[in-house]
Amino acid sequence: MLEIQNLTIRYGNFLAVNNVSLCIPKGQIIALIGPNGAGKSSIVRAIGGLNSFESGRITFLNKNLMETEPHLRIVKGLSIVPEGRGLFSRMSVEENLLMGSYSFKNKGLLDELLNRNFELFPILKERRQQLVGTMSGGQQQMVAVAVGLMSNPKLCIFDEPSLGLAPIVIEQIGDALISLKKQDLTVFLVEQNASLTTRVADLIYVLSAGEIKYCDTSPNLMNNNEVLETFLSV
Ligand SMILES: Nc1ncnc2c1ncn2[C@@H]1O[C@H](COP(=O)(O)OP(=O)(O)OP(=O)(O)O)[C@@H](O)[C@H]1O
Ligand SMILES: [Mg+2]
Repeated sequence: MLEIQNLTIRYGNFLAVNNVSLCIPKGQIIALIGPNGAGKSSIVRAIGGLNSFESGRITFLNKNLMETEPHLRIVKGLSIVPEGRGLFSRMSVEENLLMGSYSFKNKGLLDELLNRNFELFPILKERRQQLVGTMSGGQQQMVAVAVGLMSNPKLCIFDEPSLGLAPIVIEQIGDALISLKKQDLTVFLVEQNASLTTRVADLIYVLSAGEIKYCDTSPNLMNNNEVLETFLSV
């Protein structure tokens, strides 16, 4: 679905992402895990077109992604839930959700997408008129995930959805990701949280200081204390 080949990103002289390659096959949950400053969000922003990069190639659905303007990537089926959620706090849950599907005019599809999200997170249905700024951190993260899904994406990228959340809410986010995979969504999960990641991901790439240091399945990563301790301080 999405492939990154030899991606290198620099901010001035600082090498933030060094020759990173990874592959996100259709129907899987692929994770990128790494500590603060590893370069995770830089990679996400490069996919979204918010960061330029020095070299490398990003392919989405077998086409060079750079040939699609950043604002049109969502129409092609690429959705990104950014770190920090990017919600409109003075707007209601429903208004935020509708912003996520601004590119659609089809009322039937809109209603279906809204209902799918309300099934995924029933609390959002109860709170559909509540201003997002007045919701708890966990509820806001559910809104952010739902907004990302409102464009009916083929691939959804989540940048640190567990940030600042209690373990029980992280578990709910994990449940949602597993159910989305069953509905055939491809997921790229960018995280620091090893327990969430190993629970849901098919394959995990470990990023440290801008480089992929390790790539393996969840069970193998969980059994590799050296990698866990060295790169993830677990
Ligand atoms: N616009 C920028 N200008 C200069 N340096 C930047 C810029 N954006 C990011 N960096 C640096 O690049 C490195 C990688 O940052 P990035 O945000 O990609 O990390 P991250 O893995 O997402 O970290 P976190 O888990 O804290 O979100 C950091 O050292 C950061 O300070
Ligand atoms: Mg980040």
